Amino acid sequence: MADAKSPESIPKTKGLFIKTYGCQMNVYDSERMRDVLKPLGYSPVDSPEQADLVVLNTCHIREKATEKMFSELGRLRDLKKDTGGALRIAVAGCVAQAEGDEIMRRQPAVDMVVGPQAYHRLPEMIARLARKTGDMLETDFAADEKFDALPKTREVDGPSAFLAVQEGCDKFCSFCVVPYTRGAEYSRGVDAIVAEARELARQGVSEIVLLGQNVNAWHGAPPAHDAGAGEWGLGSLIRHIAKLGGVERIRYTTSHPSDMTDDLIEAHRDIEQLAPFLHLPVQAGSDRILKAMNRKHTAEGYLRIIERARQARPDIAIASDFIVGFPGETDRDFEDTLALVKAVGFAQAYSFKYSPRPGTPAAGMQLQVEEAVKDERLARLQRLLNDQAQAFNDATIGRRVKVLFSRQGRRQGQALGYSPYMQSVHVDDAARAPNSMAEVEILGATMSSLKGRLVEAVVPA
Ligand code: SAH
Ligand code: SF4
Ligand code: F3S
Repeated sequence: MADAKSPESIPKTKGLFIKTYGCQMNVYDSERMRDVLKPLGYSPVDSPEQADLVVLNTCHIREKATEKMFSELGRLRDLKKDTGGALRIAVAGCVAQAEGDEIMRRQPAVDMVVGPQAYHRLPEMIARLARKTGDMLETDFAADEKFDALPKTREVDGPSAFLAVQEGCDKFCSFCVVPYTRGAEYSRGVDAIVAEARELARQGVSEIVLLGQNVNAWHGAPPAHDAGAGEWGLGSLIRHIAKLGGVERIRYTTSHPSDMTDDLIEAHRDIEQLAPFLHLPVQAGSDRILKAMNRKHTAEGYLRIIERARQARPDIAIASDFIVGFPGETDRDFEDTLALVKAVGFAQAYSFKYSPRPGTPAAGMQLQVEEAVKDERLARLQRLLNDQAQAFNDATIGRRVKVLFSRQGRRQGQALGYSPYMQSVHVDDAARAPNSMAEVEILGATMSSLKGRLVEAVVPA
């Protein structure tokens, strides 16, 4: 093919494969790593075999998550051998932060280790790697530096996008590694957030999901037009983003009960675009256990927040996270968790067996609960939560809801989207489903998804 450029002047594209474990913040970070590496000629490929650089973006939250990473590294080491050592391997994310030295020692095939606040330095690290000199481990905590250094443009895929507004955690729940892997709570400035939201809207994004480890701890100085208003919280930020053109739906995750302000709850009453969905982890229903977990709230306090949220927005769907088998949890404590679940009626929930994490206070506590007891409690809790999810989904049968279609469904011809209540919704007439919001009549429900019929495209395809 005729090309004015000589072959040497065309930058070689290099294959990049990023495997993401863990939470939505890691999904966001993986997207931003792609943005950071793009100017170096890296573009995404579908498998590690096609890649010049593989990044594992890791999660440290439970033991299993960390084990998964080490077994994946074993496979990559073999692949690297097959490439004669040409394949580059980087470990990013929360395991990188917590166990960077250990990873370097245990798996010499790893070329680079980069923590969640340092991945903007990947280009420098790659250059050092080529020169075979300099540090291959970057695990500083400098959230402000990272956000300032990230590219202002974003490559987006589909009509929904994550936007990190807050990072890190100062809550120090006694079971949790996040304060150690993500560092202190940091809130990005309003201007930077708005610029990123505008960039997303410009690219056709209609749903923005505001992210943070404790997203509702976000706070910041208001922009000039609201200078007299005092400091803004997440509610004010949401009101502001809702006014930017093109943003049809706003979500936020994950919140902490002690940062659930009136302003945020009122935003659920006032802001049309704010999805009627609140993911508010409670972890347990026994005050004794909540105290030992250092959760800073009681079961009653949690129930009061839910009541306020429902007053503001009666149809709000409530989701949560639970841990069973925390050290010292008795049958009686566990019954309190079941009672709390019954009192709330959750739309969705994640539940986990307590996993002792190195360096956290709970790992050293007496009275660790036996695995068999944890299994039994988890099964009982999940039965109850599944019944509640089924009941919540059944209640939407016959209703019409606005679904944001974002992906192909699993079956041929199926489209998958999300309702305002964060339920996954499938329709069969994929060809008619737009890559945006459409109205759907709900025809059937399982505990994990809904099936529906496209009524009309709200926004033309
Ligand atoms: N910042 C969020 C999410 C933290 S991690 C929050 O505070 O809600 C997501 C969930 O993982 C937690 O809500 C908790 O339920 C679970 N989790 C965290 N540490 C855990 C551990 N050591 N064992 C089991 N589950 C854990
Ligand atoms: Fe972990 Fe608790 Fe912070 Fe959530 S609030 S990230 S569970 S320490
Ligand atoms: Fe995992 Fe880190 Fe997220 S430990 S859950 S990837 S903040």
